[in-house]
Amino acid sequence: MSARPAGPRPLPDAPGPADGVTDVRDPAHLRRAFGAFATGITVVTAGGPAPRGMTANSFTTVSLDPPLVLVCVNREAVMHQVLTEAGHFGVSLLGAGQESVARHFADRSRPAGLGQFTEGTWRPGPVTGAPLLADALAHFECAPWRQYDGGDHTVFLGEVLAMRRRGGRDALLYVDGRFRALAPGRAEAAA
Ligand SMILES: Cc1cc2nc3c(=O)[nH]c(=O)nc-3n(C[C@H](O)[C@H](O)[C@H](O)COP(=O)(O)O)c2cc1C
Repeated sequence: MSARPAGPRPLPDAPGPADGVTDVRDPAHLRRAFGAFATGITVVTAGGPAPRGMTANSFTTVSLDPPLVLVCVNREAVMHQVLTEAGHFGVSLLGAGQESVARHFADRSRPAGLGQFTEGTWRPGPVTGAPLLADALAHFECAPWRQYDGGDHTVFLGEVLAMRRRGGRDALLYVDGRFRALAPGRAEAAA
């Protein structure tokens, strides 16, 4: 048996599906690779005459001064048009146990307008009026800041005008196309 030389192992010459390294031109392969990046889950919302919410894991915090966040929205989503025209928008960060909320706001067959918001599960943001979901870990109320071309998505930056953080619960996570929960005690053990 020959010993492996010291140093990093070379990448295989022809990576195949078994390696998880494949073709950037194939959207399914891209989704699989992008999906390895673990995220939280948000519902982005806008009020006004045709209120709407959309599940989004592309949410990112951007800047403290000014306070900015972003979300990337598919140009083909109904929510894209809504956000393009919205005076304000809201972001609700979902907690563990809110998977059904995430699924609901990702379901294209959900009712239009106010009908998609179940009574008693939301309230208008005190500053912007954008719908904010009950039991969320945190809420951000935002004013549109800039929009950038992001290929088949648009990057919407928002300036945070108001926020609220609730303690005491873990975040809902999403990785490899599945909703996940934090394993209790693991983060502390690793620290
Ligand atoms: C976990 C998860 C995360 C998602 N993240 C995004 C996202 O960041 N941006 C996006 O445009 N769509 C995202 N989607 C898809 C939309 O939620 C879904 O297509 C929605 O129905 C589109 O909104 P619309 O009904 O207004 O067209 C996500 C779906 C799921 C299940």
